[in-house]
Amino acid sequence: MKDIVIRRAELPDIPRVVEIEECSFEVPWPDFLFKAYLNNPGFVVYENGRILGYAIVGTSEDRTRSHLQSIAVHKDCRRQGIATKLLDWCIDLAKLYGFDRMTLEVREKNVDAQLFYSENGFKVEGRIDGYYVDDNAIVMGRDI
Ligand SMILES: CC(C)(COP(=O)(O)OP(=O)(O)OC[C@H]1O[C@@H](n2cnc3c(N)ncnc32)[C@H](O)[C@@H]1OP(=O)(O)O)[C@@H](O)C(=O)NCCC(=O)NCCS
Repeated sequence: MKDIVIRRAELPDIPRVVEIEECSFEVPWPDFLFKAYLNNPGFVVYENGRILGYAIVGTSEDRTRSHLQSIAVHKDCRRQGIATKLLDWCIDLAKLYGFDRMTLEVREKNVDAQLFYSENGFKVEGRIDGYYVDDNAIVMGRDI
């Protein structure tokens, strides 16, 4: 059995990350966007023999909070705690950088993800109409 690792994403990981993205979102990010995040220490993958999920954590525009940019787990590997482990890793990294809050936006129609975030301590803090090309955003946040 291979070791389970969460590690920083590297260039050769991008095709698999895009595969996960494409089975996770109706409007998936293209590979060049992921490549632009490769210099960010908060772009990480969860690997168990192969990459099963990814997460990207950064900072809010005003730099006062950590901000979860994106998280996704391959559709065949969900409900096994993988996203929870990725999120915990992102929270630990944000704390290392001195942040005590994390916020995120999630599509209003993405109820599954909202339930995942609620389960992990996030509370609804607002709504931004037209945030996505195809939906409004629910803003969620928690202390970390
Ligand atoms: C949301 C997502 C990342 C969750 O990944 P995951 O690895 O399946 O999540 P976990 O196994 O860590 O779930 C932890 C808990 O969150 C809740 N949860 C997760 N997915 C859920 C769902 N589809 N419906 C209801 N609750 C859910 C459950 O309480 C779950 O615990 P349980 O399985 O013991 O009941 C995954 O469904 C995904 O990749 N979705 C598509 C991409 C996406 O929407 N990303 C978020 C964008 S903002």
